[in-house]
Amino acid sequence: MPKDHTSLISDLEEKLKECSSSHDIANIKSQYLGKSGIITNKFGSLKDAALDERKELGRSLNILKTQIQNLIAAKLIEIQDVKNDNKVDITLPGKNISTGSKHPVSITINGITSILAKYGFTSVSGVEVEDEFHNFEALNIPETHPARDMHDTFYVSDDKLLRTHTSSVQIRSMLSNKAPLKIMTPGKVYRCDSDPTHSPMFHQIEGLYIDKNVNFCHLKGVLISFITEFFGKDMEIRFRPSYFPFTEPSAELDIKFKGKWLEVLGCGMVHPNVLSNVKIDTKKYSGFAFGLGIERLAMLKYDIVDLRMFYENDISFLSQFKGLK
Ligand code: PHE
Repeated sequence: MPKDHTSLISDLEEKLKECSSSHDIANIKSQYLGKSGIITNKFGSLKDAALDERKELGRSLNILKTQIQNLIAAKLIEIQDVKNDNKVDITLPGKNISTGSKHPVSITINGITSILAKYGFTSVSGVEVEDEFHNFEALNIPETHPARDMHDTFYVSDDKLLRTHTSSVQIRSMLSNKAPLKIMTPGKVYRCDSDPTHSPMFHQIEGLYIDKNVNFCHLKGVLISFITEFFGKDMEIRFRPSYFPFTEPSAELDIKFKGKWLEVLGCGMVHPNVLSNVKIDTKKYSGFAFGLGIERLAMLKYDIVDLRMFYENDISFLSQFKGLK
């Protein structure tokens, strides 16, 4: 590099050191690269150079120009960084971090289990991939029983299926714990069914109470008090005689909603055949069981019209439940 170029560069470096604002830098830039700046003039005088030197001179002038542009640009960034660092105002309030909300199904499960826990029910879980014994046979539903048609079952292999109801957990609990027993079991169940009021996967909670002298009045008492507490007010309800292979007598509980009776749960006294299947002495013990649909209760409580809303992950739907536990 020609000597005068080297000194030009070190000169510029000195000047840039003194700069403290982008305005200072703009001045320097015009001194060197402006219309009548040092470099621009040098390019202008190229035409006076001897023809054989012109090419080499032009090349080194271009290098010099690039160096100058780089030095100026670097200084500009340096000043900008200092400015940005000083710009942080730590007295400003922090940005709000927006939190999510619990899913209405979870909120409903929490609501139900916290009420039942007060009545002495302990929460247990079962398995979602079940076998026919726990889901059907032990519950007094043999293979030839027409009640198997009530359940459109998803089979995952010849002998494994997705449980069609949480009643299978009754069997698991009675086999692994001796009577007396008071359990509740929330969870997912699966049926081959899909329309605005049916989903192939939905949630149930099962209650089971086995003890000496348990009778239908206890069952009614628990359910009436549960429904009143869950909705926070007296509801118009009725017990309607029904049929389940694993309870006898059996009933369904309906709630009057907007002038219509809606079925919310199935219940009854545990069938003696079920107790015998799990080796519980039917002379000593009796019990009641109930199973209710979580989504159904949530729809009534929060006035949700389409079951499919629960599974669409629509933020505007879900955010309505903010703050609920
Ligand atoms: N398992 C029944 C159903 O899914 C509900 C039920 C549970 C009925 C316990 C009686 C007793 O419809």
